[in-house]
Amino acid sequence: MRIVVIGGSGHIGTFLIPRLVRAGHEVVNISRGRRSSYVDDPAWQEVQHVSADRAAEDTEGTFPDRVAELRADAVIDLISFTLESEKALVERLRGKTGHLLYCGSIWRHGPSWKLPITEDDGTPPVGEYGIAKAATAGMLKEETAAGGLVTTSLHPGHISGPGWHPIGPLGNTDPTVWLKLSAGESIAVPGIGAEFMHHVHADDVAQAFELALSHRDAAAGQDFTVVAPSALNVRGYAQIAASWFGQTANLQTVTWEEFRRTTSADAYESSWGHLYRDHYFSIDKARDLLGYTPRYEPEDVILESVRWLIDNGQLDIARPLKV
Ligand SMILES: NC(=O)c1ccc[n+]([C@@H]2O[C@H](COP(=O)([O-])OP(=O)(O)OC[C@H]3O[C@@H](n4cnc5c(N)ncnc54)[C@H](OP(=O)(O)O)[C@@H]3O)[C@@H](O)[C@H]2O)c1
Repeated sequence: MRIVVIGGSGHIGTFLIPRLVRAGHEVVNISRGRRSSYVDDPAWQEVQHVSADRAAEDTEGTFPDRVAELRADAVIDLISFTLESEKALVERLRGKTGHLLYCGSIWRHGPSWKLPITEDDGTPPVGEYGIAKAATAGMLKEETAAGGLVTTSLHPGHISGPGWHPIGPLGNTDPTVWLKLSAGESIAVPGIGAEFMHHVHADDVAQAFELALSHRDAAAGQDFTVVAPSALNVRGYAQIAASWFGQTANLQTVTWEEFRRTTSADAYESSWGHLYRDHYFSIDKARDLLGYTPRYEPEDVILESVRWLIDNGQLDIARPLKV
C-alpha cells in the first residue's frame, strides 16, 4: 500500500515508519522537518518526506488537499488535536482513501470508576485535550457506521521509550525523583500512592497501528485502547524503580496542598492530571480483534527509557543501575 503518515518522526513514528517500510509499503511522512526519529533505522532512506506545517495549513484550510493529493491507500494521522481538523480531513478523503487511522489518547476517558476500563465503560473526558480526542473518535465511528470513510481510532497510554523522559512515579516528568529514588532519599507522595498510570512502549503503539492497517475489516469503525498488559500505581512504580538502584523507596504521604507547595506548577499539574484520572485499561478488544500482543510490561519500557537517559548523560542519579 501507499501510506501517508502525518507526524511520523516522533515517538510513535520512530517505530511505526520502519515497521511499515519493512512490511513492504510505500511510505510518505508529513512533518515540518524540525526533528528526526529517536532511533536510527536504514528504513528511513526509503521514506518520502513532505515538509508541511499542519497547524498553519489547517488554519488556511489547505491541509486536507495536501493529504488527498498524495493519493494514499491509507492515511495514519498521528497529530490531530481538534474535531474540526479531523472532520476537514475526513470530508476530503471520503471516497479517495481506503482507510484513515487516527491517534487519540486514553485521556478521552475521565477519572476511573471501575478498573480495568474498557472501550465502552470509561467516564466522560475532562479537559480540552481529552474532550477533543473523545469527540473526534466518536465522529470517526459515526462516519464509518454511516457508510462513509473507513476509519479506526487507536488510543495510547503514556507513550514511553528510549530517547525521552517517561512519566515518572509521581505522575510527572520532574527528573529529581530519579535522583531521590537512587539515593534512597525520602519522596513526598500526594495521597497514599494507590493511583494507577498506564504506560505503553512506543513500539507497541506502532504494532497496534500496523495491525489495524492489516486487519482493515476487523478495525473498520472501531476504537482501541493501546497500552501495556498491566499498569503501575504510584507506590508500586516507586518501589520497582528504587530496586533498580538497589534501594527501597522511602515514600512519605503528604496532602495535595503540601505537595503543591514543594512542587513546580507544571509538575503539580501533570501529577494531578495523571493521578486524578487513576487509569488502568483492558487490552482485550485490541487483542481479540487485531491480535495485539504488547511486548513490554510498563516497568520494562520505563527501565529501557531510564537506562537510555542515564547512558546518554540526560539523567542525574546517585548510584548506577544494578539491573
Ligand atoms: N505522548 C504521549 O504520552 C501520548 C499519550 C497518548 C496519546 N498521545 C497522542 O500521540 C500523538 C502524538 O504522537 P507522538 O507522541 O509520536 O508525537 P511526537 O513525538 O510529539 O511527534 C510529533 C510528530 O509530528 C510532527 N509535527 C509536530 N507538529 C507538527 C505540525 N504542526 N505540522 C506537521 N508536523 C508536525 C513532528 O515533527 P516536526 O517537529 O519535525 O514537525 C513529529 O514528527 C498525539 O495524537 C497525542 O495526542 C500521546
